[in-house]
Amino acid sequence: MILRVNRYRPGVDDAPVFQDYEVPDREDWAILDALTHIKDTVDGTLSFRWSCRMGICGSCGMNVNGEPKLTCGTFLTDYSGPVTVEPLRGFPVIRDLVVDIDPFLANLSKVSPWLVREGEEPETEFAQTPEQLEAYKQYSMCINCMLCYSACPVYVLDPDFLGPAAIALAQRYNLDSRDMGDRFDVLSAEEGVWGCTFVGECTSACPKHVDPAEAIQRYKLTAAMRSVLPFTRRRS
Ligand code: FES
Repeated sequence: MILRVNRYRPGVDDAPVFQDYEVPDREDWAILDALTHIKDTVDGTLSFRWSCRMGICGSCGMNVNGEPKLTCGTFLTDYSGPVTVEPLRGFPVIRDLVVDIDPFLANLSKVSPWLVREGEEPETEFAQTPEQLEAYKQYSMCINCMLCYSACPVYVLDPDFLGPAAIALAQRYNLDSRDMGDRFDVLSAEEGVWGCTFVGECTSACPKHVDPAEAIQRYKLTAAMRSVLPFTRRRS
């Protein structure tokens, strides 16, 4: 199997180039295993991120044959011909397959991603019913892999767009019965939910079956109601 890998050192190379590597055609190898094989046996300068190798840490996201994938969960057997591996689209490249995650983290922090509380805290645990947990649980499954941003045509064209994971994260707290925050200003701003054109690729790309597209459309309804009826309940 041929792996066609993006190589690039910004500030040193004029432009990114593809380099072909032949890797063993092993049925049990993920793309990440093939990249590790190249780094260990062919070219130690190849740069990429990974940590857990089990779809948990979210650090091994790359574009594989043009689609954002977790490379530890995408196998050589998923492809028949040469496999092209590139850095995630939409983010500045630091080197080879490593992108700068600062813009992504900055967007997450804009939505106050924590339980906002006001007044006195309850004296005992803040118990939730299974239904209250279910209201936000799917949004809490995000592993911050950034695949949804790389898949989003709006974010790739306009990095000011708040983006799918950040909006889903906001809903993770908005829909939590313990939260008392109000994220209306950031979500309903020009760069917030209204930028989404509902292509839905964010949801298709998510390896954890989070549905950011649904979170965004749902908050559009909330924001519209709030604009018409300012005292509408913020949770919906
Ligand atoms: Fe952790 Fe792939 S290495 S998700």
